[in-house]
Amino acid sequence: MEKKIITNFVHPDIEDYAEKHTSPENEVLTKLNRWTHLRMTRPRMLSGAYQGKLLEMISYMMKPSKILEIGAYVGYSAVCLAKGLENDGILHTIEADEELEDIILKTINDANLDNKIKLHIGEALNVLPSIDEEFDLVFIDADKINYINYYEQVLPKVRTGGIIILDNILWSGKVVYTQPKLDKETATLIQLNDLIQNDPRVENLLLPIRDGLMICRKI
Ligand SMILES: C[S@@+](CC[C@H](N)C(=O)[O-])C[C@H]1O[C@@H](n2cnc3c(N)ncnc32)[C@H](O)[C@@H]1O
Repeated sequence: MEKKIITNFVHPDIEDYAEKHTSPENEVLTKLNRWTHLRMTRPRMLSGAYQGKLLEMISYMMKPSKILEIGAYVGYSAVCLAKGLENDGILHTIEADEELEDIILKTINDANLDNKIKLHIGEALNVLPSIDEEFDLVFIDADKINYINYYEQVLPKVRTGGIIILDNILWSGKVVYTQPKLDKETATLIQLNDLIQNDPRVENLLLPIRDGLMICRKI
């Protein structure tokens, strides 16, 4: 198929209407969203209000005790996911960029979640073995090149019935409108989507929201 980059899988008018009929972010997240767009490079990495609300809703519906996130950036999605935690629940988030540490800790503090979110600074594949938990909910949102490694390392740590959500799984449509020479990220995501689709360990749903979310339920 021809080369295409798609920024909206849903028609922009429909997306706009859906956003206007979705509860807004709270004050902490609005400020963080604005600040990130003013001060940070690559603000598009932030989940944002609509996807953030979806993560929050899933978390509220599941009432998880243990959540894992790979890729914190400024802490936006961590705050959304932590909202649905059980009273004594904990969210572990892993971020490789140590320059983001103070920003993430400030976000956690602003959201009054110091006792619920534990930040691990380091490469996710090195940090993961040191987190000895069984997870109810996992959000994978870091370097795409390692997505298969993350999926395989994380799945044994998820309880039966637990959920793994993977972001950017459509990669601006590049997994569909493939190019003659695939870049490494696109090739990895195509391989992972096929692996998940044929994986008897999970039931899965690919949602064309934002850059594509794959939701896997461990059987
Ligand atoms: C898309 S952003 C995360 C956005 C955040 N989850 C949100 O929705 O607001 C991806 C983050 O993953 C981090 N990252 C990249 N490679 C990583 C690795 N190997 N281990 C841990 N974090 C990594 C990046 O530094 C970046 O902050």
